[in-house]
Amino acid sequence: MKGIILHGGRGTRLRPLTHTGPKQLIPIANKPISQYVLESLRDSGIKDIAIVLGNIFPEKVKEYYGDGSKFNVKITYIYQGKPLGIAHAIGLCKEFVGNEKFVVHLGDDLIRGGIKSFVEEFEKSDYDGMVLLCKVTNPQRFGVAQFDSEGKLVKLVEKPKKPPSNYALVGVYFLTPFIFHIIGKLKPSWRGELEITEALQKLLNNGKKLHYKFVNGWWKDTGTPEDILESNRLILDELKPEVKGTVEDLKSVQGRVSIGANSIIKRSAVVRGPVVIGENSIIESEAYVGPYTSIGNNVVIRSGEIENSIVMDNCYIEVEGRITESLIGPHSTIVTNSRDKPKGYRFIIGEKSKVFT
Ligand code: DAU
Repeated sequence: MKGIILHGGRGTRLRPLTHTGPKQLIPIANKPISQYVLESLRDSGIKDIAIVLGNIFPEKVKEYYGDGSKFNVKITYIYQGKPLGIAHAIGLCKEFVGNEKFVVHLGDDLIRGGIKSFVEEFEKSDYDGMVLLCKVTNPQRFGVAQFDSEGKLVKLVEKPKKPPSNYALVGVYFLTPFIFHIIGKLKPSWRGELEITEALQKLLNNGKKLHYKFVNGWWKDTGTPEDILESNRLILDELKPEVKGTVEDLKSVQGRVSIGANSIIKRSAVVRGPVVIGENSIIESEAYVGPYTSIGNNVVIRSGEIENSIVMDNCYIEVEGRITESLIGPHSTIVTNSRDKPKGYRFIIGEKSKVFT
């Protein structure tokens, strides 16, 4: 089976972070979102993977993943450019897929526990397609499934105002090359996209076997800052503690904390896990890093409190008060230099920002 990762799209809800890179490269617990996806495909036995690139800094994706050998997979890049729809992106992969069954994974969807069992089931089956569903409280935001009284899947609707159920379509689609006949005849929807949901509905209408499975653990579509911070919490909840750097006083580190090579936790700093800290970072004596925080590489936290946040590589923070529920883009500086200091801050800031509070 082959794999396709969709790495295009708009990323409007994640601006300004997506002014300088695609949303799928935003790190969660110090790893880009799409790397979780790539590893999930690889760990399911799928080594031949196409990455569909959009028009937001596609070269950064190529630079990060290269030919895939670093990740033990073979990568083919396919250029989509403008986001003309998920089905459009899949349609571009016809030649790559050839005659094989394949799985399409949105580059910003995370599924706890991966998809190995689903890949195995689809591979042995005679299904024409298979989708994953997950119960949600806000189905209006997703593609939604409708069932008949016997639990048979009868309809799929994209972002319905009145959802027929609470079961959302997860962004993982198991398909056969038959789907290309359908995609070839699709017309753009009201939002100007070729919709995968409509293509799947046409499979059903053609009497094809479209199977469904429920995901067991959690599933997150990481389209908004809140989703990213929640995914960060979910991933850090399962963090394995590991100290490669230096902790000057062991009392400084409480709970599950992972500290990368050459990082230093200075005496009398406090790091309360779950927290991940990358390489070459320094947590100075007057700093507090609280639960559910990811700190990247080459970061200095000179002073202040930070929790429930993601601080990306090469940042410098020297504040009075607390930063919480924040996404801080790479190469940013946040420094307090005012006398009237508020107690707390919440930031979503893009790459190379300078903030003086
Ligand atoms: O996350 C699950 C949902 O994903 C499903 O429930 C919906 O049925 C499905 O349409 C999709 O909805 P979204 O509105 O969340 O899709 P979004 O535009 O955010 O794109 C999803 C991913 O696919 C994202 O990683 C960007 C990528 N993409 C999207 C489009 C439209 C592309 O690579 N090319 C595209 O043209």
